[in-house]
Amino acid sequence: MSIVITGNPGVGKHTITEKIAEKMRLSIIDINTVAKESGLFEKNDDTNDIDVKELEEILKQKISEKNIIVGHLAPYVLRKNQIKIMIVLRRSPYDLISVYKDRNYSDEKCKENAGSEILGIIAHDSINKFQEKVFEINVTEKTISEVTEQVMQVISQKDKNDQVDWLELVKKNKDLGKFFVD
Ligand SMILES: Nc1ncnc2c1ncn2[C@@H]1O[C@H](COP(=O)(O)OP(=O)(O)OP(=O)(O)O)[C@@H](O)[C@H]1O
Ligand SMILES: [Mg+2]
Repeated sequence: MSIVITGNPGVGKHTITEKIAEKMRLSIIDINTVAKESGLFEKNDDTNDIDVKELEEILKQKISEKNIIVGHLAPYVLRKNQIKIMIVLRRSPYDLISVYKDRNYSDEKCKENAGSEILGIIAHDSINKFQEKVFEINVTEKTISEVTEQVMQVISQKDKNDQVDWLELVKKNKDLGKFFVD
C-alpha cells in the first residue's frame, strides 16, 4: 500500500513529494509521467481527458510498498486497497492564480483550475472513494518545510485533517466573478 499525494495543479504536490520521498526513502511514481510514457496523452494532450481505466491497469503493475505516488489524477486511477493514506494538498485560489500566471496559463485555464480548487473537486472525489484514508492539508502561508513536517505528522497519525473552505472565503470577498465566468 502506498502513500499518495494529490491536489490541483500548482498546490505543491511535486515539491512536497520529493521531500517526503527523500525522508522516507521511497521512490516516486508520477502518474502523469507514467501516462505519458504509456502513450496515453498522445491522442489528446488534455490531462483531464484520459483513459483512466487503462491508466489504472498500467499503475497496478508498478505499485509496491516502497512507493510514493503523486498526481492530480490519483483519485481516479487508484483503488482503495492500493493506498495507505492519501493526502490532498489545498492551496488558496488567490495564491494559485499567481502560480498559474508565472506558468503563463491562459485566463481560461487559470479560472478552470482555481475554480476546481475553490469547489474542492479533487478533495471531494478522494473522500468519496477512499473515505478514512484521506487527509487534507492547507499549505497556504506555510513554508515547504512546514508542509513537509505536517505531512510527516499526518502519515505517522500524529496530526489530523485541516478544514478548508475556499468557497466561503471567495464569497465573503465578493470575488466569485474573478474565478467563475457568469
Ligand atoms: N509550501 C509552499 N510555499 C510556497 N511555495 C510553494 C510551496 N510548495 C510549493 N511551492 C511552489 O509552488 C509552485 C508549484 O509547486 P509544484 O510544481 O510542486 O506544484 P504541483 O502541485 O506539483 O503542480 P502540477 O500539478 O502542475 O505538477 C512551485 O513554484 C513551488 O516552488
Ligand atoms: Mg508538479
